[in-house]
Amino acid sequence: MTTAIIGLGNMGKGLARRLAGKTDLVVAGRNEVSARDFARSIGAASATVEAAVAGADIVVLALPFAAALELAASPALAGKVVVDLSNPVKPDFSGLAIGHVTSAAEQIQQAASGSQVVKAFNTIFAGLFDAPRAATESVPVFLAGNDESAVEAVAQLVAKAGFATEKTGGIDAARLLEPLGMLNIRFGYGLGRGTAIAPNWLAVAA
Ligand SMILES: NC(=O)c1ccc[n+]([C@@H]2O[C@H](COP(=O)([O-])OP(=O)(O)OC[C@H]3O[C@@H](n4cnc5c(N)ncnc54)[C@H](OP(=O)(O)O)[C@@H]3O)[C@@H](O)[C@H]2O)c1
Repeated sequence: MTTAIIGLGNMGKGLARRLAGKTDLVVAGRNEVSARDFARSIGAASATVEAAVAGADIVVLALPFAAALELAASPALAGKVVVDLSNPVKPDFSGLAIGHVTSAAEQIQQAASGSQVVKAFNTIFAGLFDAPRAATESVPVFLAGNDESAVEAVAQLVAKAGFATEKTGGIDAARLLEPLGMLNIRFGYGLGRGTAIAPNWLAVAA
């Protein structure tokens, strides 16, 4: 099972560092030279975006929502599991640009109609990828997707990245997960709690 990470910003690089050596991994970005240098630094492969997508079973779109949506429409993604980790925040971070009756993940699924889209990692601050693995093993990555085998494939990837998983149902659950990501941003930045935080669901002893 080959995973391609497209986009080497904070999320893409952080996830790649966690997955390097744990799965068959190829990374790609707009700047092929810096993608190659980064790949070498973590012992992974790099390729052009086109080649990385073509050779992968799982394609992680570690991109801003608009760029993810554009790539999602590519026929090259057909038949692949596509991971959307975006939070469609407004440019001034005051809230989400879309929601309630749709979500970024649903729009990406609509654009990538021949792919199985799975929402993941949108409530995880990029800095958590650089925390010790032991510190994140019980931190849930919330998953949403319509195809159970695609969700399970991403759950296994999440485990390799050193996180727990919480399955939330079909892709429409992204309407709930994206506001949760926004709340996390509000706690982290607006309310000053910093970015070493993540939401979790507690089972309360009654
Ligand atoms: N940062 C977080 O803590 C966090 C947490 C949860 C979810 N997310 C979500 O994760 C996604 C990535 O966030 P990030 O923090 O990693 O962003 P980032 O550091 O700004 O990185 C974005 C990456 O996307 C690439 N990119 C930007 N516009 C592009 C375009 N039009 N076409 C192709 N590539 C493009 C950039 O490439 P260049 O380097 O070539 O510019 C960069 O590699 C976003 O959707 C965000 O909402 C982020």
